[in-house]
Amino acid sequence: MEQVKKGVQTALDVSHVSAQLKAKGFCSIESDFFKQADFFREDDWKEFAQSFNNQPVDKYMKDNGTYRLRRFATIEYSTSDRSMNFFLDRPYYQPTDINYLNGGVVRHFDPMEAETTDNRFLRGLLQWAFNVVEQLEGSSNWEVSLHPIRILARTNEQGEPAPEGVHRDGVTYIFMMVVARDNVLGGESTIYDNERNPLKSVTLQPLDLIFADDNKVMHGVSAILPDGVDGYRDVFVAAFTKKT
Ligand SMILES: [Fe+2]
Repeated sequence: MEQVKKGVQTALDVSHVSAQLKAKGFCSIESDFFKQADFFREDDWKEFAQSFNNQPVDKYMKDNGTYRLRRFATIEYSTSDRSMNFFLDRPYYQPTDINYLNGGVVRHFDPMEAETTDNRFLRGLLQWAFNVVEQLEGSSNWEVSLHPIRILARTNEQGEPAPEGVHRDGVTYIFMMVVARDNVLGGESTIYDNERNPLKSVTLQPLDLIFADDNKVMHGVSAILPDGVDGYRDVFVAAFTKKT
């Protein structure tokens, strides 16, 4: 079950990550550990990162911002057969009590492209995450929403990675992995307890990830600003909802 190279005890070990999630409500993992994972190959990672270059503008931003580009997909997964079934035509919905800014509206985003949903790095990362949630929840069925998102930092418009502020996503577990930071300042991620006291702040670099128990903790990300010239921050978010 452990998705790491033989004999290498790392922060990626499923037992370590699940213990952290249980004890603290979150687990932060640096890029070096993902580079040692058995599912990591440089060319797969590069291909996954490059897919963020081809994403349309999010048309549902109620702050009228044009700084967010994204695609979307849903997965159904059962720990019994371990197969990931992708759905590319489902809309995304959040209630307003979870997302006061953009909730309450059924959002139809452009789907993730087939070559991205087939990407070996993506599949490996998701299987690792499913192993973590299985360790925590036992045999179970999951619905997972996938959000590859680019936030632009332009000289004429600040980029907001989390325009809704400190929030939770109304799911069971969630991870956020930064995929790229190009000419940006800011974008500091903070995990909060349910009374909104900050627990940990970190400026995630490419391949760094935070895994969180969405019931135990909340999260937020500070604005990004261009570092001299226009820039962007790419993040991949996967939100896991336990169905049964
Ligand atoms: Fe979130």
